[in-house]
Amino acid sequence: MIKKELLRRSIPDFLDGIDTKEKWEKKRNEIRDLFLKEEYGFLPEKIKPTIKTEKQGINFAGKAEWESVFFTFEKNGKSHTVRTELILPKSKDNVPVFLFLDFEAKVPSKYLPVEEILDGGFGMLAFCYQDVTTDNGDFTNGLCSLFCDENGKCTFGKISMWAYMAIACMDYLEARNEVGKVAIIGHSRLGKTALLTSALDNRFCLTCVNESGCSGASISRGKTEQNENIKKITDTFPFWFCENYFKYIDKENTLPFDQHMLLSLVAPRSVMIGGAILDVWADNEGQFLSCYLAGDIWKLYGKRGFICENRLPSVNEHYLDGEVCFHLRDGEHFLSRYDWNVYMSKFKGIINN
Ligand code: GCU
Repeated sequence: MIKKELLRRSIPDFLDGIDTKEKWEKKRNEIRDLFLKEEYGFLPEKIKPTIKTEKQGINFAGKAEWESVFFTFEKNGKSHTVRTELILPKSKDNVPVFLFLDFEAKVPSKYLPVEEILDGGFGMLAFCYQDVTTDNGDFTNGLCSLFCDENGKCTFGKISMWAYMAIACMDYLEARNEVGKVAIIGHSRLGKTALLTSALDNRFCLTCVNESGCSGASISRGKTEQNENIKKITDTFPFWFCENYFKYIDKENTLPFDQHMLLSLVAPRSVMIGGAILDVWADNEGQFLSCYLAGDIWKLYGKRGFICENRLPSVNEHYLDGEVCFHLRDGEHFLSRYDWNVYMSKFKGIINN
């Protein structure tokens, strides 16, 4: 089945000839730069933010400590502050933490079940992506305003800006004594962001990419009418990408890469791709094929890569044994408790290893 699908989707063997870790490591930076140049845009130069923290009274039945952490970035007389929420299990050391890219500034939120995560033994640092910069074509607000030119133009898209903030959060987590291993997690447009972040920053031991679909974990070539493709995504969300990406509208076959190669940049660390059976827009087959095609890169590191049957999993069947994981949940587009449990159980396995 897989061979036939690959043929239909005509994905060239971009990783052909890369048969040692050394060859791969030479190639990987080229591939990373291609994604930045052709799709998302290069992230701006790193600025060290000033950090201020403020303790919150709520402690989740005494289980946790909650601090709001404010990141202030300054450049050329302009500044912008992003509020984040750090919730850690009480008096623990070496706490595994999820960096969560959220749609809302609320805690808990629709997609962030704080108590379940604490009960799983994890802490979390969360921020609302629109507090970094708005999800529209205005580049003069938020962090983008520090980097745009006098006409309000940036050379990168909004996904890169959100990834920039995620990397700053990782810098902060690294400096906190109580924090141990860090996973990054995002859903949908923020799943795209989580994947890009981890492709650029190798400090995340686990990357959870939930229903990220087009321009995320899903292969761009060979989409069906029902799937989102580059034309559809750039018609509605042109500001997520850099200008070069528009060259590939209706010309997916001319892309010098496909999205599985973004996944491969995460190797040898663990990456989990989540799909929902009714989320046809995100293209489950394309997300599964990405895992399948990227998996061999992990083998160059003596790891297992993607362990699967020669077919898409059926609903609620999981391929979770390797470092590349795929699960297909029942239901619609959402980051559910079910997904969180799948991600948490893998994270537990990584910690205990
Ligand atoms: C839209 C968009 C997707 C995106 C999703 C989301 O459906 O077309 O690409 O993943 O929004 O972020 O919820």
